[in-house]
Amino acid sequence: MIVTGLSLETLAILVGLVCVLRAFQLCLDFRRLLASIHHLPGYRTIISASSMLGRLFPPIPLLNLGHDHFWLSKHAPFAERGLDIISIATCWPKATGSLLIADINVIKDIVWSRGGRFPKPLELYTALAFFGKNIIVSEGSEWKRYRKIVAPAFSERNNRLVWDATTQIMLDLFDTMWAGQQEVVVDHSVDLTLPIALFVIGAAGFGRPISWKEDAVVPLGHQLTFKDAIHTVSQNLTLPLLVPRWVMGLTKHFRRTRLAFDELHRYLTEMIHERQGSQQEHNHDLLSSLLSANDSNDSLKDDVKLSDSELIGNIFIFLVAGHETTAHTLSFSFGLLALHPDKQEEMYQHIKRVLPDGRIPTYDDMSSLTYSSAVFNETMRMFPPASVVPKLSAEDTTFTLTDANGTMKTVVVPKGMELGLHITGLHYNPKYWEDPFVFKPERFLGDWSRDAFLPFSAGSRGCVGRKFSETEAAAVLTILISRYTISIKDEPEFAGETYEQRKARVLDARSKITLSPTRLPLVFRRRT
Ligand code: HEM
Ligand SMILES: *[C@@H]1O[C@H](CO)[C@@H](O)[C@H](O)[C@H]1NC(C)=O
Ligand SMILES: *[C@@H]1O[C@H](CO)[C@@H](O)[C@H](O)[C@H]1NC(C)=O
Ligand SMILES: *[C@@H]1O[C@H](CO)[C@@H](O)[C@H](O)[C@H]1NC(C)=O
Ligand SMILES: *[C@@H]1O[C@H](CO)[C@@H](O)[C@H](O)[C@H]1NC(C)=O
Repeated sequence: MIVTGLSLETLAILVGLVCVLRAFQLCLDFRRLLASIHHLPGYRTIISASSMLGRLFPPIPLLNLGHDHFWLSKHAPFAERGLDIISIATCWPKATGSLLIADINVIKDIVWSRGGRFPKPLELYTALAFFGKNIIVSEGSEWKRYRKIVAPAFSERNNRLVWDATTQIMLDLFDTMWAGQQEVVVDHSVDLTLPIALFVIGAAGFGRPISWKEDAVVPLGHQLTFKDAIHTVSQNLTLPLLVPRWVMGLTKHFRRTRLAFDELHRYLTEMIHERQGSQQEHNHDLLSSLLSANDSNDSLKDDVKLSDSELIGNIFIFLVAGHETTAHTLSFSFGLLALHPDKQEEMYQHIKRVLPDGRIPTYDDMSSLTYSSAVFNETMRMFPPASVVPKLSAEDTTFTLTDANGTMKTVVVPKGMELGLHITGLHYNPKYWEDPFVFKPERFLGDWSRDAFLPFSAGSRGCVGRKFSETEAAAVLTILISRYTISIKDEPEFAGETYEQRKARVLDARSKITLSPTRLPLVFRRRT
């Protein structure tokens, strides 16, 4: 009745009024936000870069920073303001602030804090929980339960398994796919490193060895290979949050992505059933740890059991977290070694000194293969897979640090404020790293600041797979460099570029879920 009584003009005026009031409200909230952080210098933009709109829009001054901004700008935003903490304040979709931190001591206090003072902002992680709750997307007692279940699988014994699986996979690559070829061209490095890393986690985490030849065939009862299913899913993780399932049935493109989600679920379920029916001993690998959480008949232990969706959710997260990060880092390592042939030669000579008879290295050699580890570390310093690690302040607090002039400054942190541990800023902070833009693996062979190197985060929520990936990477780099040289593929369309242009082109990276190379074409030549 009331509605029919309204003229169109009145309606327009009402709508206009609501908009004005809303804008006014946002302005007030925004001013209150700035006051709450005592106007700490930083960025002021309209749209939040982590919102959906912010991801869709390109960077536009005052409107949107663009979600790649902090990877691209490295330490510069901190240097410009003379302080290793800066703020971001945005007013859309609501007034929100966050603090970005590139100071060693403040980061250390946050990651090593106790009593839930700086939890993870779980709402930023929802896409990672698509298949079920898991160790990355959880907090408090729920997280403790997951971590306790999986911890035994990341033992010294498992590292040995990782090393052996990795050497097997590399030798299988050379003996089958690359057999008889003096020169192997790879159009994009990840076409090589993603399968390597996926096979390693498959073999060492889930007792599911895959050979290079087998991998190319779609198994009976499936429409996609395991590799294609997991890659399509991990590239499109946020899609189910944006697009309802029925809409994904509308176009061929969407249908293929939806199929990948369904196929992956089927593969994971099969993996569980196969292992449950198997009599074989699996040396307490990750899958058996996850499955044996349910073994106890003790009803007191019901709280450590995993529901079906938690089981699938955790298997999924280990597959994704356990292979993309390592694969992308290895890609950047190959690119950096190709661009720095002197370092590549130094690495080769180092390997020859450790293994003079040319035998295949074992896990016991790893501690001597320091140059290989240094290359991996230096790559992660320059290309940290997780550019920013998000946290939340659960209470009103303050951070104290010194500014560029050596003056003590106090930063006020209101309860609920989002914090970003700015790993890229930390890794390029000239206070901690000499010539931060220069690739110098040998810096890790001397004295270096352990607190200023945080590719795996640290503290209780640090990466549980750190040693796993260090082991895998040392094995891949050592075996590859001992048999092949790496160079950048020459392409006629780039014949005229300078060294610096070429470097910028092939090392170009985008921060998606993890930092990824855009296109890194390589040539591997057999050493004679
Ligand atoms: C270069 C390789 C890797 C890097 C740079 C890396 C980095 C990280 C980072 C920064 C975190 C903290 C994430 C957060 O705070 O949300 C993390 C957590 C985690 N990573 Fe890794 N990771 C790597 C490899 C691996 C591997 C190989 C695995 C498993 C086999 C793995 C499994 C995990 C898990 C399960 C967590 C969550 C731990 C917890 O919250 O208790 N990661 N990783
Ligand atoms: C450091 O001191 C200089 C000179 O007094 C001043 O211009 C500059 O703003 C100071 N920087 C910071 C971060 O306070
Ligand atoms: C899913 O990921 C693949 C591989 O990156 C991509 O080609 C495809 O466009 C994505 N699908 C959708 C619906 O965005
Ligand atoms: C483990 O136990 C829980 C709770 O009893 C049950 O819901 C779940 O289905 C079990 N999972 C497996 C894999 O057996
Ligand atoms: C590489 O970094 C890790 C810490 O992430 C450290 O334990 C290891 O010693 C480093 N390796 C070298 C050769 O510096």
